Amino acid sequence: MYGSTTRKALLAVCLVLLAPSTAAHVRHNSAAVRPFQVDLSAGLPHMHSLLRQSKLPGEEEYPGVGDTAGIDLGVLRSLRGQWLNDFDWLREEAEMNSFRHYTTEIEGLTVHFIHERSSDPDAIPIILNHGWPGSFLEFTPIIKNLTSTAVTSKGKPISFDVVVPSLPGFAFSSKPPVNWTVEDTARIQHTLMNDVLGYRQFAVHGTDWGCAPSYTLYANYSDATRAAHLTFLPFLLYSSAQLVTANITLDSALEQEEQRRTEQWSSTGNAYYLLQLTKPNTIGLALYDNPLGQLSWIGEKFITWSDPHSFFLTYNEILRSTTLYYLTRSFVSSIYIYFQNPNGFRSQYTKPATDAPLPFSAFRYNIAVWPEALVAKVGNLVSYRNHDSGGHFAGLDNPADLVADLREIREYWNGTA
Ligand SMILES: *[C@@H]1O[C@H](CO)[C@@H](O)[C@H](O)[C@H]1NC(C)=O
Ligand SMILES: *[C@@H]1O[C@H](CO)[C@@H](O)[C@H](O)[C@H]1NC(C)=O
Ligand SMILES: *[C@@H]1O[C@H](CO)[C@@H](O)[C@H](O)[C@H]1NC(C)=O
Ligand SMILES: *[C@@H]1O[C@H](CO)[C@@H](O)[C@H](O)[C@H]1NC(C)=O
Repeated sequence: MYGSTTRKALLAVCLVLLAPSTAAHVRHNSAAVRPFQVDLSAGLPHMHSLLRQSKLPGEEEYPGVGDTAGIDLGVLRSLRGQWLNDFDWLREEAEMNSFRHYTTEIEGLTVHFIHERSSDPDAIPIILNHGWPGSFLEFTPIIKNLTSTAVTSKGKPISFDVVVPSLPGFAFSSKPPVNWTVEDTARIQHTLMNDVLGYRQFAVHGTDWGCAPSYTLYANYSDATRAAHLTFLPFLLYSSAQLVTANITLDSALEQEEQRRTEQWSSTGNAYYLLQLTKPNTIGLALYDNPLGQLSWIGEKFITWSDPHSFFLTYNEILRSTTLYYLTRSFVSSIYIYFQNPNGFRSQYTKPATDAPLPFSAFRYNIAVWPEALVAKVGNLVSYRNHDSGGHFAGLDNPADLVADLREIREYWNGTA
């Protein structure tokens, strides 16, 4: 009985992850846009009191398992200690407020976004779409560099007008209705760029769930979306066996290592995915008012999905992300993105009818990497850059390569900004 349940669970895991082998510079419309400041300080006393009262087991409980059974107890203990004793949320807020934040209403939802412009009139407008458990915070290390004028690898000048929205259900954007999908998100982001901000044509970037609205903008709003840079695809991955059947060979050691990590995620790393896909309330309500619980759930992802050698992705980074989730009360609504989009990762690889370019960047420590031949099946792949450092949150653990790769968009850009 137990064995067959386990087999069913494993089968479901495989089904979730593996595809079948057949397989012009205009101003804000100021009436519609309101400046916004991050100020969540009212929630701090309650959060601190819960955290202070929280208890963790002693080190004698299952000693020696390390991180083989999920987050390491000692790591969680020191994260908790740092949160209580050496973490300054007000300083974090001040840093967040060094960016220009706005909100606007679209289709009845409040949409929060950062909007930072370049001083260059030829700047390319770009949307940066985060995923789960990310937020606008995963792009703050790169926004200022993207707005400054630099040059591509071939010497063309490039800078961006940067728009970083909070996905519906995340941070300061409204919690959407239960029937809301990533295609709906793409539609309101198109409205945001075209009608609210006046950017007739723009580029998109997407990671994790953020790749889904970005890809829909690429596929279905092709007059507006004139380039899509992705680090993740809304398509199910191939197992090694499926790659063989499809005649896709992984030549380099880096590609082989990435495929190994991809399969490791699909066998031991995606229990959270199935739970959030099928029973989001069970974990969501359990952790809704539980900061230490959210730290354990979210912290494990930041740690295991990132480059262990990066000195950028610090405990402080994990704490400020978790604090944002907790204080904005968006833990439940953020994980609903899985439940709302059971087919958000497609099994049929199809190529949309757009002539816009799709450059892709792979990062070694990501949880999943699509080999070049798979990316080429779903878009006009013009560049595939593979980095042996950085992971799932490249804006946090390999910002320099992410910035450099985004700047290459200028080489392929054929829109007018
Ligand atoms: C989704 O739900 C909202 C309100 O809950 C409703 O107004 C809307 O018609 C629904 N949309 C679809 C496509 O069912
Ligand atoms: C594009 O739109 C069609 C029709 O609404 C839809 O079936 C398809 O899933 C969309 N493509 C993407 C990538 O969202
Ligand atoms: C793979 O290569 C073999 C031998 O060249 C060929 O017969 C087969 O059709 C190819 N399969 C695919 C999916 O391209
Ligand atoms: C941003 O630009 C500064 C100044 O040129 C540079 O020192 C820094 O490394 C850049 N950071 C990233 C993430 O590219």
